[in-house]
Formats: sequence, structure tokens, C-alpha cells
Amino acid sequence: MRDIVGRIGVVILTLFVLGFVSTTYAQKTHTNLNQKVLKVERGFTKEAAACIECHAKEIPGTVAAWKNSAMAKAGVSCFDCHVVEKKSPMANQCSGLKGSTTYISPMVSSKTCSRCHPEEVDQFLKSGHAALSSAAVIEPKKGALQKLMYLNEGAAFMDGGKIDLSTGLTPKGHPAYNRAAKTSGCQMCHGTKVEMGPDNKPINETWPGGVGTVYPDGAIGNCSVCHTRHNFSVAAARKPEACGACHLGPDHPNIEIYLESKHGQVYQTQGEEWNWDAASDTWEPGDYIAPTCATCHMSGIGDLATTHNVQERLKWDLMHKKSVIRSGDRGDGVKGDKLMRKVCSNCHGPTHTDVQRKTLDTVVELYNKQWAGAVKMKKELATKGLLKKDNWKDGFQELMYYLWHHTGRRARQGAAMNAPDYAHWHGTFQMFQVYKDMEDIYNWRIKNNKIEDLSTVMSSAPY
Ligand code: HEC
Ligand code: HEC
Ligand code: HEC
Ligand code: HEC
Ligand code: HEC
Ligand code: HEC
Ligand code: HEC
Ligand code: HEC
Repeated sequence: MRDIVGRIGVVILTLFVLGFVSTTYAQKTHTNLNQKVLKVERGFTKEAAACIECHAKEIPGTVAAWKNSAMAKAGVSCFDCHVVEKKSPMANQCSGLKGSTTYISPMVSSKTCSRCHPEEVDQFLKSGHAALSSAAVIEPKKGALQKLMYLNEGAAFMDGGKIDLSTGLTPKGHPAYNRAAKTSGCQMCHGTKVEMGPDNKPINETWPGGVGTVYPDGAIGNCSVCHTRHNFSVAAARKPEACGACHLGPDHPNIEIYLESKHGQVYQTQGEEWNWDAASDTWEPGDYIAPTCATCHMSGIGDLATTHNVQERLKWDLMHKKSVIRSGDRGDGVKGDKLMRKVCSNCHGPTHTDVQRKTLDTVVELYNKQWAGAVKMKKELATKGLLKKDNWKDGFQELMYYLWHHTGRRARQGAAMNAPDYAHWHGTFQMFQVYKDMEDIYNWRIKNNKIEDLSTVMSSAPY
């Protein structure tokens, strides 16, 4: 608590300074109070004002969103974020700048933000939202997911369908790719590597992209996925809808889970009355009654400071095939457990929190047991030559995917975030059904020593 009072002090001091001067942000430096140091500089330069004035006519929606933002009020404008050096790999000129020596880019990476917000960017870069996020989508290693997006969902239907899915090659031996699934789906959530053409403009529909976008300036991260441009609001990022753009659907229904939880119910019935605008690290219970995604995963609360590393407070890896306690580039699960318990302790007693944490552990254990059973059956089928090469035409392998990627994730994440319907009816209930169907297929194949003619599984099944 003492920390908080200290932090409130600093923020009040900062606001006090901000109230008196129209400012351009210089940098965070350090007196023993760790105050922000602000340089006084009234108004916009002539060049910066020209961008705003012309764009107010040409792209009025952008300027309208920006002008009410905290950054506009602090004197940060188009010029600060979009102007790049002539030698930048993204350097370009819009029609209003032709003939001048000013170069711009419509792409703005986290590197630009880090000039003024270095701590947020450092934390972000350590999280799964950065490199790990786009790595899942970027070529070229021919993993199962690359095959899924380039071949099964796309190329298989092109070129007369004459592509061998087991090799990913056309009859002539050329690799066959179709980007439709990647650019309309994966990339918009995960981000990809932006590919550039000779005129310094993005090609192959690789921009815009999601949270882990790898930019031509070498930087990773699109900060505007949560801080929607151009008002870059903190209040908006604190609301669950900011996360729900990507964290939804059959395979990671986090927004659905949240809205179904008691916390979500309180948010939906009372959230309009809450105070969403408090400065970072002063936004505390009282401003709100129940937590949002941000409260548990990012915001300062009690002793905990705000973090842009969303894996800092996690114990388990609940997204991959087998759930393990987080380590390495997925964080530190032992520490994560302690930090998440601290979040709960602001509003719940230790008995309540212990029960919730143990409930999650038991669901993880149940899922891992079923997954291990599935792996064992699959191994045996493989040694006996009873698996099809194309796993999407093989009922057993298809079901195994749903066990992990859909039902298993829903059970684990539903339990983690207190949504009984997802934990059970969309989770453990469907897990055991999928498992029993897998057993039947396994037994049939072992008994008859062959693969059944048709997959008994419909891909659009309710899993
Ligand atoms: C605080 C930094 C910041 C400021 C200030 C800013 N922008 Fe942006 N702008 C961004 C970011 C971030 C993006 C998204 C970039 C991406 O996806 O790579 C963006 C994207 C854009 C785009 C391309 C996307 C589209 O919808 O076409 C345009 C055009 C643009 N901004 C215009 C402006 C104008 C005009 C201003 C001044 C009124 C402005 N920006 C001020 C950061 C900023
Ligand atoms: C005299 C008018 C004018 C001025 C001044 C001007 N622009 Fe533009 N800008 C435009 C127009 C018009 C477009 C629409 C696309 C085009 O014609 O290039 C545009 C497009 C853009 C885009 C989007 C580019 C894209 O590829 O989608 C960005 C970013 C941008 N301007 C930034 C700036 C910045 C930063 C400044 C100030 C340094 C500035 N502009 C000054 C008129 C202007
Ligand atoms: C030239 C310096 C500068 C750059 C570049 C910059 N910011 Fe800011 N930003 C500021 C200042 C100054 C404030 C207002 C004081 C504060 O909150 O620290 C601010 C505030 C913010 C806030 C808080 C808004 C609120 O509602 O309170 C967010 C979020 C933010 N910036 C995000 C970004 C992002 C994302 C980028 C990169 C696309 C970026 N900033 C680039 C200087 C900058
Ligand atoms: C633009 C899409 C997008 C938005 C918006 C988004 N996320 Fe994510 N998030 C992802 C993706 C993609 C991953 C998986 C990254 C990977 O491949 O490891 C992820 C992973 C995570 C993880 C696991 C992190 C890890 O390191 O393993 C957490 C926790 C998380 N997000 C929380 C949030 C919260 C809270 C919000 C809102 C405040 C949010 N996300 C907003 C796309 C998004
Ligand atoms: C609607 C947004 C969205 C789309 C579309 C999407 N993902 Fe994801 N993806 C996520 C989120 C969010 C997570 C984190 C899930 C969790 O924590 O359970 C994730 C997790 C993953 C993971 C596990 C984390 C890792 O890095 O190992 C992989 C791999 C992955 N996605 C690949 C893909 C591929 C490939 C596509 C396209 C074929 C795709 N995703 C489409 C949002 C999306
Ligand atoms: C997953 C969603 C998400 C992403 C991605 C994200 N932010 Fe934030 N950001 C938040 C939330 C939520 C808060 C408010 C935390 C709180 O409650 O104080 C915040 C707060 C901020 C603030 C205000 C901090 C202050 O001291 O006033 C800044 C500045 C900021 N973010 C910059 C960035 C930058 C730069 C990036 C890109 C590296 C980024 N954010 C990416 C969700 C996000
Ligand atoms: C009451 C606090 C709380 C709220 C609210 C909350 N979460 Fe969680 N979240 C958790 C806990 C606890 C876990 C599991 C942590 C662990 O591993 O011990 C978790 C796990 C996750 C994961 C799984 C990461 C993985 O390993 O795959 C994602 C993604 C996630 N949350 C996103 C969100 C999003 C998005 C929202 C809002 C729509 C949200 N959370 C709301 C507490 C919360
Ligand atoms: C900002 C305060 C706050 C935080 C932080 C918080 N909760 Fe809650 N929680 C509430 C409120 C309010 C309720 C609704 C109580 C009721 O049912 O009347 C609630 C209800 C619940 C419930 C429903 C069962 C019950 O007691 O009614 C569970 C389970 C739960 N919380 C778990 C958690 C866990 C686990 C964490 C930490 C990861 C957490 N909460 C963090 C405020 C909070």
C-alpha cells in the first residue's frame, strides 16, 4: 500500500506539471522521486501543424480520433509517429509531401513508441504477444499449421486441386501456396513479417497485421491492437472488448468465458458506473468492483505494478497440447502463481483463492491424463501403419486435434477464469465424448488391422 501512495504522489505531481504547461514529452529521467521530466514547448511546429491541417480535410476521421487523445493534449502529433528518415526501409511520401525532404510511413512499430514509452515496450517484448505471436504464423518451416493455412485451406483448391498434401508440391514439384487464410485470419490476430516492395510499400498483403507484427525497421509489435488508433485510450484498453477482438471463438473463447463468469456479470450490470480513467497504477478496486481482463493480466493492483508482459502472472501454459508449468520464453510459472494469487487477494480471502487455484490444477490434471491416453493410442496406430498421411481425412487424428485445440482449451481456460458452462458443457463434457469416439476408432482399427474407408468425423462438428 505504501507503494501506491508513493505512486499516487508521483502521478499527482506529474499531472500538476502537465496542468500548467502545454508540453512536448522529453524522456523519463530520474530524480530520486522518479518523476517524468517534461520539456516546455508550446504549440506545434509549422511542419507538424501542416500534417494536421491537411489531413483534417483529407482523412478527417483520423484527425478527429486523435484530437481528443491524451497524446494530442500533450502535443504528440502525426509528425512524431509517422515521420521517418529518408533512409528508412519504410520511407515514403504522401501526395501532400511530394517535393519536400520529409518522409513518412503509414506503418508505426513499437520502436516509435519506445522513444517515449520505453518501459511499456520492454515489458511487451518479453511477452507472448511479441515475437512468439508472429513466429506462429511466419513461414517457412513446413509445420502442420503452415500446411493448414497455405495448403489445406487454400492451395488445395487452386491449380485444379492437383497438389500432393503430404509434400505440399504440385505435380511439377513446385511449392504451392495460397495466402488467403493467412492474410484474412492468422495474420490479423498474430501479426506476420511485413514484406516490402521496391517502392518501400508493403506487398503480399502482409500489412496491416496483429499484435506481434514484425516491421521493416526490425521492431516487433503493433501497440494499436489494444490502444486503438488514433485516440490510444487507456480507458478503452482496460475494457474486456479490447482483448475480445482476438481472444474469442471455439479455440480460445476468453471473452465468452469472461462474460459468463461472475466477474463479467458484474461488469455488464455495473461497469458503466465505474471510473475507467484513473492514471496507471492508481486504478484500484473502488474505481471498479470486479476485475476485467486487464485487471488480472496487466493493470497495477495492490502491491502489483502495471505490466505489459501478459505472461508475468500465469502459472500454466493452457494453450499447447500438454499443459506444463511455464518456464523459459513462456515465463516463470512458480512466480506467476504467486502474482495471480496477489491479484485475487485484493477482493477475496485466502480460502476462496486457494479453492479456485486448486480447481484449475485438477482440470489441468484431468486434461493432461486424457491427452496422454490419446498420445499412447496414436503411437500404437502409427507403429501398425493405421494412420492416414493426411491427418484431416483421418477421423482419429481429427478428433485428437479437437481434444486439444478446442474442447481441452475450453475446459482449462473456463476453469482458470471461473466460467462453469465453458469448463463443463463446452469443456470436460465434450472432452470425454471426443475421447470415447477416439477409443472406438482405435479399437476398430486394431481389431480389423485396417483404416475405415470414410472419416466418421465431420469437421464442422460441434466440437
Ligand atoms: C502516437 C503515435 C501516432 C500518432 C500521434 C498518429 N499516428 Fe497514425 N498511426 C499510428 C499507428 C500505431 C498506426 C497503425 C500502424 C500499423 O498498423 O503499423 C497508425 C496508422 C495510421 C495510418 C494508416 C492506417 C490507415 O487507416 O490508413 C494513417 C493514414 C495515419 N496513421 C494517419 C495519421 C494522422 C493523419 C495523424 C495525425 C492526426 C496520425 N496518424 C497520428 C500512430 C500514430
Ligand atoms: C497538403 C496536404 C498534406 C500534407 C501537408 C500532408 N499530407 Fe499526408 N496525406 C495527404 C493525402 C491526400 C493522403 C492520401 C494518400 C495520398 O494521396 O498520398 C495522405 C496520406 C498520408 C498517410 C498514409 C499513407 C498511406 O500509404 O496510406 C500518412 C501516414 C500521412 N499522409 C502522413 C503525413 C504526415 C506525417 C505529414 C506531415 C509531415 C503529412 N502527411 C502531410 C495529404 C497531406
Ligand atoms: C514523442 C513522444 C511520444 C511518442 C512517440 C508516443 N507517445 Fe504515447 N504519450 C506521450 C505523452 C507525452 C503522453 C501523455 C502523458 C503520459 O501519459 O505519459 C502519452 C500517453 C500515452 C498513453 C496514455 C493515454 C491515456 O489515455 O492516458 C498511451 C496508451 C500511449 N501514449 C501510447 C502510445 C503508443 C502506442 C505509441 C506508439 C504508437 C506512443 N504512445 C508514442 C508521448 C509519446
Ligand atoms: C490483436 C489480437 C490480440 C489482442 C487484441 C489481444 N491479444 Fe492476447 N494474444 C494474442 C495472440 C495471437 C496470442 C498468442 C500468442 C502466441 O502465439 O503465443 C495471445 C496471448 C495472450 C496471453 C498468453 C500470453 C503468453 O505469453 O503465453 C495472454 C495472457 C493474453 N494474450 C492476454 C490478453 C489480454 C488481457 C488482452 C487485452 C488487454 C489481449 N491479450 C489482447 C492476440 C491478441
Ligand atoms: C481471432 C484471432 C486468431 C486467429 C484468426 C488465429 N489465431 Fe492463433 N491464437 C490466437 C490467440 C488469442 C491465441 C492464444 C490462445 C490461448 O492462450 O489459448 C492463439 C494461439 C495460437 C498458437 C499457440 C501459441 C504458439 O505460439 O505456439 C498457434 C501455433 C497459433 N495460434 C497459430 C495460428 C495460425 C497458424 C492461425 C491461422 C491458420 C491462427 N493461429 C489464427 C488468436 C488467433
Ligand atoms: C494487450 C493489450 C495492450 C497492448 C498490446 C498494449 N497495451 Fe498499453 N496498456 C494496456 C492497458 C490495459 C493499459 C492500462 C493499464 C492500467 O490499468 O493502468 C495500458 C497502458 C499503457 C500506457 C499508460 C501508462 C501510464 O503510465 O500512463 C502506455 C503509455 C502504454 N500502455 C503504451 C503501450 C505501448 C507503447 C504498447 C506497445 C508496445 C502497448 N501499450 C501495447 C493494454 C495494452
Ligand atoms: C479474475 C481474473 C481474470 C480475469 C478477469 C481474466 N483472466 Fe485470463 N486468466 C486468469 C487466470 C487465473 C488464468 C490462468 C493462470 C494460470 O496459469 O495460473 C488465466 C489464463 C488466461 C489465458 C491463457 C493463457 C494460456 O496459457 O493459454 C488467456 C489467453 C487469458 N487468460 C486471457 C484473458 C482475457 C482475454 C480475459 C478477458 C476477456 C481474461 N483473461 C480475464 C485470470 C483472469
Ligand atoms: C476487484 C475485485 C476482484 C478481484 C481482483 C477478483 N475478484 Fe473474484 N469476484 C469479485 C466479485 C465482486 C465477485 C462477485 C461476488 C458475488 O458473487 O456476490 C467475485 C466472484 C468470484 C467468483 C464466483 C464465486 C463467488 O464467490 O461468488 C469466483 C470463482 C472468483 N471471483 C474468483 C476469483 C479469482 C480466482 C480471482 C483472482 C484470479 C478473482 N476472483 C479476483 C471481485 C474480484
